[in-house]
Amino acid sequence: MLSSQLYVAFCALFILPFYFCVVDAQASVDFDNGMFKLQWTHDDGKLVFNMTCKTIGWCGVGFAQTSDGKGMVNYDMAVGGVDSNSALYLDGYQSTGPGIPTKDPTPDYRLIRASEENGYTNIQFERIDTTEGDDKDVQFTSNSEVWIVRAWQNNYDAPLGLDNSTLQHSHTGVSTKKYNLIKEATANGMKTRVTTYTILSLIPENMMVPSQFSCLCVLVLLPYNFFAVDALNYVSFDSDNGMFKLQWAHDKGKLVFNMTCKTTGWCGVGFTESSEGRRMENYDMAVGGVHVASNTPYLDGYQSTGPGIPTKDPTPDYKLIKASEENGYTNIQFERIDTTEGDEKDVQFTSDSQVWIVRAWHSNDAHLGLNANLKHSHTGVSTKKYNLIMEAESTTVKNTASGMRRRVATFVILAQIVALCSVLI
Ligand SMILES: *[C@@H]1O[C@H](CO)[C@@H](O)[C@H](O)[C@H]1NC(C)=O
Ligand SMILES: *[C@@H]1O[C@H](CO)[C@@H](O)[C@H](O)[C@H]1NC(C)=O
Ligand SMILES: *[C@@H]1O[C@H](CO)[C@@H](O)[C@H](O)[C@H]1NC(C)=O
Repeated sequence: MLSSQLYVAFCALFILPFYFCVVDAQASVDFDNGMFKLQWTHDDGKLVFNMTCKTIGWCGVGFAQTSDGKGMVNYDMAVGGVDSNSALYLDGYQSTGPGIPTKDPTPDYRLIRASEENGYTNIQFERIDTTEGDDKDVQFTSNSEVWIVRAWQNNYDAPLGLDNSTLQHSHTGVSTKKYNLIKEATANGMKTRVTTYTILSLIPENMMVPSQFSCLCVLVLLPYNFFAVDALNYVSFDSDNGMFKLQWAHDKGKLVFNMTCKTTGWCGVGFTESSEGRRMENYDMAVGGVHVASNTPYLDGYQSTGPGIPTKDPTPDYKLIKASEENGYTNIQFERIDTTEGDEKDVQFTSDSQVWIVRAWHSNDAHLGLNANLKHSHTGVSTKKYNLIMEAESTTVKNTASGMRRRVATFVILAQIVALCSVLI
């Protein structure tokens, strides 16, 4: 048996760290496979940012309220880093369209600290929600939504300003949706606060708790709570009566695919932005399988511009995770980053690109590459174009909401067990 003070201390050890972790991190976005990360908290009319770029040059973020967030239209930006003399810098910039942005004449972003380590630049800075600066400042209110634009320069710092074409970003991108920075931070913090306080307040003053039992509850339920929410959420495309199935999820700038064909040979998918998606025009393909005789899983990237044997992608982007063959079906799991730096034949997946999904397979394997004898025995094109990222994101949003409910439900169960214990004793 544990005394109530010990039990509260015990609970606090497990639950409170979770509470603080989440409240501290409040809201966070992560793009380009971890190459850019922005975290923010909202406190007392102020947004506090923690930004990281995979660069030793400058690292920047922009906020825009325009309809698509593109083309540098009305960006309100913060650009900073650590220069070669170890001096920290952060400047506010504004732009109305493409070109070198101008410094904000009434700067609003305030540098807290910056550091450079292992090829990553991290900058912490803050800004008040609504500035009294100028009409180009983006104002953050409880009902304003912004696109989050990332950019960085791989080699050069900009302590003296961006007014030099050599300093143009080497990488940029826009979020796939708009964010309400204030609501996002507040919502995450509040939910966690409320559930934690509820549990702690349910523990009666003089309660005695059977110790092994409560240990078990906490140890079993909390990990479930963390892991349940992080599973990938797949969108599904199914055709030819289940003979071809493609599922995909979007995670940190990466598309993760799960493809199945009713064949013991090769199984392939192609993506194209061409107008009709037919005749192998500008296909970006992944073809794989399991060569059973040598027990070798394989996956190759191919490209085509028109009918004929496609050529291997000289800068392959699809990465095999695993492949298996069972009951006449071949299943291949693989992934690819959204936007490659490969070649111009790569199809780029962005928040506003749509692709036809082309399926094909053959009864023999192509572990040594495709040739004239291995031409597909079956092929077909989807009946509409898909925006892979947006489809996946909307599934994730739905599932994140149910993930949140699951968290709350777990906490409620935990609270009930605690309450039950106190009644039994
Ligand atoms: C800022 O972000 C970096 C990278 O995600 C992280 O390692 C660090 O702990 C964060 N710092 C704060 C104060 O949140
Ligand atoms: C532009 O920036 C580059 C990199 O820092 C520097 O080498 C070059 O001298 C600059 N050019 C001008 C005109 O300032
Ligand atoms: C991949 O798809 C197959 C067939 O639909 C399914 O059985 C399997 O569970 C999926 N795997 C994952 C990791 O989603």
